[in-house]
Formats: sequence, C-alpha cells, structure tokens
Amino acid sequence: MWVLCIGALVVISITHWVYRWRNPKCNGKLPPGSMGWPLLGETLQFFTPYTSSDIPPFIKKRMERYGPIFRTNLVGRPVIVSTDPDLNYFVFQQEGNLFHSSYPDTFTEIFGRQNVGNLHGVLYKYLKNIVLHLFGPESLKNMIPEIEQAALRRLQQWSSEDTTELKDASASMIFDLTAKKLISYDSKNCLEKNLRENFVAFIQGLISFPVDIPGTAYHKCLQGRKNAMRMLVNLLQERREKPRKQPIDFFDHVLEELKKEGTILTEEIFLDLMFVLLFASFETTSLAMTLAIKLLSDHPLVLKKLTEEHEMILNQRENADSGLTWKEYKSMTFTFQIINETVRLANIVPAVFRKAIREVQFKGHTIPAGWAVMLCPPAVHLNPQKYDDPVAFNPWRWEGMELRSASKHFMAFGGGMRFCVGTDFAKVQMAVFLHCLVTKYRFEAVRGGNIVRTPGLQFPDGFHIQVLEKDTSIRKQHTTPDT
Ligand code: HEM
Ligand SMILES: *[C@@H]1O[C@H](CO)[C@@H](O)[C@H](O)[C@H]1NC(C)=O
Repeated sequence: MWVLCIGALVVISITHWVYRWRNPKCNGKLPPGSMGWPLLGETLQFFTPYTSSDIPPFIKKRMERYGPIFRTNLVGRPVIVSTDPDLNYFVFQQEGNLFHSSYPDTFTEIFGRQNVGNLHGVLYKYLKNIVLHLFGPESLKNMIPEIEQAALRRLQQWSSEDTTELKDASASMIFDLTAKKLISYDSKNCLEKNLRENFVAFIQGLISFPVDIPGTAYHKCLQGRKNAMRMLVNLLQERREKPRKQPIDFFDHVLEELKKEGTILTEEIFLDLMFVLLFASFETTSLAMTLAIKLLSDHPLVLKKLTEEHEMILNQRENADSGLTWKEYKSMTFTFQIINETVRLANIVPAVFRKAIREVQFKGHTIPAGWAVMLCPPAVHLNPQKYDDPVAFNPWRWEGMELRSASKHFMAFGGGMRFCVGTDFAKVQMAVFLHCLVTKYRFEAVRGGNIVRTPGLQFPDGFHIQVLEKDTSIRKQHTTPDT
C-alpha cells in the first residue's frame, strides 16, 4: 500500500514537473514553440551541424511552424528566439533598460566573469571608451602602414609556398598584428611561442555543447583560456616589476588606468578584457577574410571588378609604390560592398544573447522577466523579403544602400549600445589585405573551402590556395580601359 502511494506520488510529481517544463509559468501569452525534452530542451537540435547556406534548419523549421518569434529551451535556459527585425531592433535599443547582455554560462566560463559582455552601466561605458581609444578611426589611420606591411610580408611568404591554408594563415597574420598592438607580442622572439594555439577551436568551443571532458571543443577552449590567462598574469607581474617609462602598447595604457587612485578598474576586469580582445579580434576577422577570398575565387566577375578598383588607386598615384593612405582606403567603395556582402553571408556571430530584466510585451507576445532572448542574425540576413535571392553572393546589391537605412536588416556587427567596437578595425584589415592581394598577386583555390556550421561558421578541411606573384606586364594589360 505504502509503496503504491509513494509510487503514485513520484509519478504525479514527475508528470507535474514535465508539464511545468513544457508549459512555463507566464502572466501573459508566451510565444508559441516547444520547450523540448526535460533538462535537454532543444539543445541537441540547435547544435546539429549543417551545410546549407540558408537560414539554419533549426530556426527555419520553427519559423515556418510558429512564426518569427518563438520559444525554446537551450542548455537548460528558457529562451525566446527572435527572427523579427522589429523585435531585434527593440532589444538592441533597450540595452541596459529592458534587456541586458547575458551570454550562456559557457561564454562566462571561457571569457571570464568580468568580460565586457557581462559588464553593465558605468563600468561598461568606461571600458568601451578605453577600447575605442585603440580601435577607433583616429588610431586606425595611423595603423594603415603597419597593416599594409604585415599583409605584404605574409603574401610574399605565401607566394613562396606550394599551397597555403588560408584560414590558419590569415588568423596568424591578424593575431600577430593585434597581439603586437595589445601586448607587444612578437611570435618570432617570444617565450610564449604558441600563444595563438590557445585560441584555436574557440568559435567551435564557444558555441558548442558545454561538456567539459577531454576531447570536446569546450574542454579545449577551457584549457586554452587557462594557458593564455597564465601568460597574461605573468606579463602583468613583469610590467609591474619593471614599469616602462612610456606606455608603448595597449597593455601599458590600461595598466596606467589600473594604477590610478580610486579607479573602478580591477585586475580581473583588466585581464579578462585583454583576453577577450585577443580572441575577438582575430578569429572573427580571419573567418570573414577566408570566406571573402573563397567567394571571390567562385565569382570571377566580382574579383575582376575588385581588381580594377584597386589598380585604379595605384594608377592615380604619382608613385605607385608609395604606401596606402587613409583617403585611398576611404575610396574603396566596391571593396566595402564586398565586405558587407561577405559578413552578411558569413553570419560569424550566429546568435546574439540578451536577458529580459523585466517582463516585456511585444506584438502580442509576453517575454517573462529573466528569460533569455536570442536574436538570430542569419534569419535577418537571409530574409528573401529584404535580400533578393538571399543566398547569392552579389556585392552589387549594396549599391546606393547608404541611402536606404539597412540597419534593421543588417546586424553582422550587432546593434545599439553594444555595437561591435572592432568593426572598423576588421574592415580596415580586410580592405588593406584585399588591396595588397589583388594588386600584387594572383591566387588559385587548390582544395578545401567546404563550409559547415555548428552553428558557428567553420572550414573543416581548411581552404588551401596557391598565391602567385603577379606579372606586372599582365597588370598593365588589365588596366588599359576596354575600347
Ligand atoms: C568580421 C569581424 C567581426 C564580427 C562579424 C564581429 C561581430 C560582433 C558582434 C555581432 C558583436 C555584438 C555582440 C552582442 O551584441 O552581444 C560584437 C561585439 C564585440 N566585438 Fe566584434 N566582430 C568582429 C570583429 C571584432 C574585432 C576585430 C574586435 C577587436 C577589437 C572585436 C571586438 C568586439 C568586442 C570587444 C565586442 C563586445 C562589445 C560589447 O559588449 O559592447 N570584434 N562583435
Ligand atoms: C554596409 O552596410 C551598412 C549597414 O547596413 C551600411 O550603412 C553601409 O552603407 C554599407 N556599405 C556599403 C558600401 O554598401
């Protein structure tokens, strides 16, 4: 009898619990959707790798079934998914008010509790200003010659190799450049020879299933963080023991801030900032660069037009070998169209996470306080109502786009207050690299270039190209106008 009673109780409470899981409490009307399996939610479906260049199947299926706003559960958290441009815009605008930045625990474990994405209010604004000091337009102007030199040096080296794996090679180029600016890191004569290796597999690890056992991408990430942080802590100690007279790199600059009396900056925030910047700056940009070159090699007409734009720049100079100027950089209209089109298709950040601070009503839906909101850039960028033939690579579609406000339909770099601080830096690096590549070199795709998304963009077998020096007599032929 007792056993039966207890058994019945257990069954009832489990049933109740499962019922609650599937039908979460809400004062209003939750968006439609399924909360998936107890505990697991729909996490496994979300992380299922796919190869189509369209909206992620996970999202697309649910958009068709439930509409543009739906609910789900990912990694144990109830989530409202937004593919609706108006809701996305609203969420961005309400940063710090109705919503704030809040990434899954995996991010916090990897990026640190005090990383910028987790900071709010005054502290966040203060940190953002520090970062803009390094990556804002004024600094970038001065960085152009350095970026051009780095690109030319790499291209020269690649042209002496049979084939070059572009994803890794461009990551190495960008990492060295950024790490030099940030911490005066020099991969050639530094004890920490493999600092970058600690950041490999990061995109996979960040947006992956958070199982911390050897062999998983997540585990690799955590190990990488440990190593990189150890190096940063050592550097901090070193600089404190032997302070430099003049701040030389970004590390010195922020260290000065840290020393100020009454500063709100802490050592932990400082180290997490350095870590995030080292990571955010190279993995994202190198993926975009690799995809750009792959798309160019698949679209010879675009490559031809791009080459013309850059040869024109050389032709208009008094001395073709004088370095690239900021004015020339600003004139690269078609290049910027290519960059926009590349990051639109790349969807390097496949999901932007926020948390509702209070209960929010939107278009007849209720978003309960404390729930996560996941904005979905691919659904916006591949929306056939806004982009004709959305999966096609067509840089010309951006012609005259400045006039029409595209901001609601373009969120590759985020939006609102937390718009990516590295946008201009990424664009400069890509544009300058493309300039050097198409004016001085030719390239051929050799193998690889296949894309898998998990849902982060990946090149599982790399993208191998051959880089060849351009014959200048050929260049002359190219630049004679067609008659
Ligand atoms: C193609 C390259 C890049 C893409 C597609 C990209 C994309 C993004 C996106 C979508 C966000 C917004 C995340 C959110 O709202 O939660 C963001 C934020 C951020 N990005 Fe980038 N990014 C790129 C390059 C860079 C570079 C080169 C840097 C290095 C300076 C950088 C540093 C950051 C930082 C520090 C944040 C956090 C800002 C904040 O929380 O306010 N990014 N990025
Ligand atoms: C790229 O996209 C942004 C955002 O929509 C837009 O403001 C900018 O004008 C675009 N650039 C070009 C060259 O089309």
